[in-house]
Amino acid sequence: MNNPQLNKNGEMQHLLTIEGLPRGMINHILDTAENFLNPVDREVKKVPLLRGKAIFNLFFEPSTRTRTTFEIAAKKLSADVINLNVGASSTSKGETLLDTVDNLTAMQADMFVVRHAQSGAAHLIARHVQPHIHVVNAGDGRHAHPTQGLLDMFTIRYFKKEFHNLRVAIVGDVLHSRVARSQICALTTLGVPEVRVIAPKTLLPAGIERMGVQVYHDMLQGLKDVDVVIMLRLQNERMRGALLPSAQEYFKYYGLTLDKLALAKPDAIVMHPGPMNRGVEIDSDVADGAQSVILAQVTFGIAVRMAVMSILAGSHAA
Ligand code: CP
Repeated sequence: MNNPQLNKNGEMQHLLTIEGLPRGMINHILDTAENFLNPVDREVKKVPLLRGKAIFNLFFEPSTRTRTTFEIAAKKLSADVINLNVGASSTSKGETLLDTVDNLTAMQADMFVVRHAQSGAAHLIARHVQPHIHVVNAGDGRHAHPTQGLLDMFTIRYFKKEFHNLRVAIVGDVLHSRVARSQICALTTLGVPEVRVIAPKTLLPAGIERMGVQVYHDMLQGLKDVDVVIMLRLQNERMRGALLPSAQEYFKYYGLTLDKLALAKPDAIVMHPGPMNRGVEIDSDVADGAQSVILAQVTFGIAVRMAVMSILAGSHAA
């Protein structure tokens, strides 16, 4: 897929995917996010960097964390935020996505934050809009969820400090997960030496090894001595046909319990992008336990999305 996110000056014009984003750019985003966060109480600062800018949230799929933290982030940057109510918008009357975008552009939009069930939707908009407008992919089909990948990297750096000495395991439905793809890309770009994926064969894409990961089908082996465990939800809405015997069976072999977590390093952290299905991929004792950083991920999402939007707004059309 064409990646038009960097302009001729090497600046980020859009954020569509982590693929092709240089390590220096990822670190710049993480460093910028750190500046927005008080390290002591994790309070996110309010700054006037995007005053007078209009940011449109276009969410054509459900979202709790991403849509809300984008809105909070935009408000913390002092931007004007417009949330399109997709159910009540003219797309439900047959208007095309690009016609909707043209009409919102006529309302002086400066940035679109887009979630869509179709892979490539954000790319389509980015190729269509005028050069002064920025597009952020907030999740497209099973392709990419770059700000989730970035906030996950911020979380890992916050708790583990370095990337070069880590063993990270991503567990669950990698096949349908845009988050897993963005995480793997970010982890390998940042120099994590060992990225493992743990899943039944039916939930792994063919050739996943080419992304630089080690494949495990047995969770007991895959979790051994890891520093970070990232759990993924079963993406039932994207599954075609029966890929698993039952949720109970899945939990038995791939659900994270305290017993299984004990195989990881004693100071391992547990992450989950949400939404979480307790008793399916994760036990409540783990989700709410001392090693869980799942809610910290959500807070860090505000700072990381502020960083992305402020960097985009500072780039020059080329
Ligand atoms: N992680 C994530 O994308 O969550 P939402 O679907 O709630 O935005």
